[in-house]
Amino acid sequence: MLIEIAKHSGFCFGVERALKLTEQAADKYGEIFTLGPLIHNKIVTDELERRGVKIAQSIQQAAGQPLVLRSHGVTLEEERLAGELCSEVFDAACPFVKRIHEIAAANDSLVVIGDKNHPEVIGILGHAKGFAAACEQLDELFAVLDRCEASYRKTALVVQTTFDRSRFTEYSRIIGEKYRCAEIYDTICNATSQRQESARELAKRAGLMLVVGGRHSSNTGKLADICSGFCRTVFIESAAELSPQIVKNLPSDTLIGITAGASTPAHTIKEVHLKMSEITTNIENEESFAALFEQSESKKLYTGARVKATVVDIKPNEAVVELGTKHTGYIPLEELTGDPNAAVGDVVAVGDVIEAIVTKVDDSQGMVWLSKKKVDAAQSMEKISASKEANETLEGVVVQAVKGGVIVVCNGMRVFIPASQSGVPKEGKLEDLVKKTVKFKVIEINELRNRVVGSIRQAVREVRDEARAKFWETIEVGQKFVGEVRSIQDYGVFVEIGPIDGLVRTSELTWNRVGHPKDIVKEGDKLTVIVKSFDPEKKRVSLSAKDPDENPWNKFIEEYQKGDVIKATIVSITEFGAFAQIIPGVDGLIHISQISTERVNNIASVLSVGQEVEAKIIDIDTEKNRVSLSIRAVLEAEQSDEDSAEE
Ligand code: F3S
Repeated sequence: MLIEIAKHSGFCFGVERALKLTEQAADKYGEIFTLGPLIHNKIVTDELERRGVKIAQSIQQAAGQPLVLRSHGVTLEEERLAGELCSEVFDAACPFVKRIHEIAAANDSLVVIGDKNHPEVIGILGHAKGFAAACEQLDELFAVLDRCEASYRKTALVVQTTFDRSRFTEYSRIIGEKYRCAEIYDTICNATSQRQESARELAKRAGLMLVVGGRHSSNTGKLADICSGFCRTVFIESAAELSPQIVKNLPSDTLIGITAGASTPAHTIKEVHLKMSEITTNIENEESFAALFEQSESKKLYTGARVKATVVDIKPNEAVVELGTKHTGYIPLEELTGDPNAAVGDVVAVGDVIEAIVTKVDDSQGMVWLSKKKVDAAQSMEKISASKEANETLEGVVVQAVKGGVIVVCNGMRVFIPASQSGVPKEGKLEDLVKKTVKFKVIEINELRNRVVGSIRQAVREVRDEARAKFWETIEVGQKFVGEVRSIQDYGVFVEIGPIDGLVRTSELTWNRVGHPKDIVKEGDKLTVIVKSFDPEKKRVSLSAKDPDENPWNKFIEEYQKGDVIKATIVSITEFGAFAQIIPGVDGLIHISQISTERVNNIASVLSVGQEVEAKIIDIDTEKNRVSLSIRAVLEAEQSDEDSAEE
């Protein structure tokens, strides 16, 4: 708060002069009287009393003694009486008041604008040589002046020296326009108007005005009236009346103005200024102390407080941090991260500013322990919750295999993946996942227990589902894949081609005749397969491992034709005939009717697997890739040749 003293305040020239005169008189006589209080200021009068100045209520009371006539002036009669009764008269009447006395004495009719009960006005009236009246309200003035006007009486209009300047200006304008009889004298003391103007100007800017002066001082009272029109105004006689209460609830940037009446000594103003400075300084100090206290309180560390910390040192098992307090902070490695495999330096570096939560405070030692992991976990929990809401897939590193599952650290948060959700088969080892980066879905969150459960399986399934959807969109007959044999069945093998397993029937494993798939492949073998057909509805794909470029039928067609007699090996026997391999991959059927020139009831009694036979190609079905053979035709031809030879 700023404190400003009005440019013009305190003792005026007249009061200063009266005081000086009185002090000189007191010094001269040791004991003197003043007619009434010298000025309306108890501090001053008390001081004068200590110097031997007594107050006489009447001139008679001071008879035979030195008497000071105060600055207000007295009536002509009192001047005369004092001269007669007192040993010496010191006329301390202000020269400005004296001038009014002269005007009063020079005019037959006098009207004083002012308080008719004020000693100054009484004294002025007492110098009038004819009609005299005093009033301060305009209607009263009109009444008096009406009478003067009516009697054509030229009237001197003077004004009490301490009257309000603006009010007098307004009165003068109205009276000047209305009454020709009135001759207006501006007898307001400049000291008064200056103090009033200074007080008004300051009050306009101030939030509080202190008006200092005697309770009975007319001019001080007027200053208080003026100031109260602009801001909160407090009338005090001395600094002793000031207390911190006076500025209670005032904004800290409030301007406090001080003004003082013409009867207020400079030292009183100075004391008020000093006391006020003291009060405001104390309050500001208190406020600033309160602010500092609040600041220090806000920095007070307590368990659970979230603080900013600067890493100042890296130790093998902890990070040392500064918190901007007197404490030294320590973050143990296990409170830096949830990753048991990480070192302190992997998580923070000197100079890093991190957020941490206070876990323990030891004020006596100036030590505090913190956890970064908890902050990370809180932030991660928010992210993880959002990810679950958005059904996002998260990524983390498996840091530990625990009972019933594994722990994945994701954004500093430990996520438990149950074994059943790990994607590791029952017979597999969870430890194999440790240190691997995995994708997982959040399947359960318990914020109260700070527990998150995830599923690698779900993430894998989702990826696989997406891949499958894409697979079915893009698959084409003839498309070639290299896949792994996943399982072997009696009817064929299942080969993994991307996100699905396709079936390679036994007959499609090779161009050659196969007894059982196990005879030529085992699980894990890589097979080049071609899509033969697919059914997106039933999610089935039929594959063939036969290389079209090596199709033996093409070779057969090139080398053999109907009518050729070839050597073939019986590879299987059925009820309706026997199959004989012509070349690897191409078998011909020897129907039961074509085995012999005689009727055959039991093929096995005639032919056996592995037996080489001579047969004639009697039909080639290029559409169905079938070859029909006939041993009988060969036998009949031989018989015919023999018959011809015999003939
Ligand atoms: Fe005189 Fe003016 Fe003061 S009239 S006493 S100087 S207020």
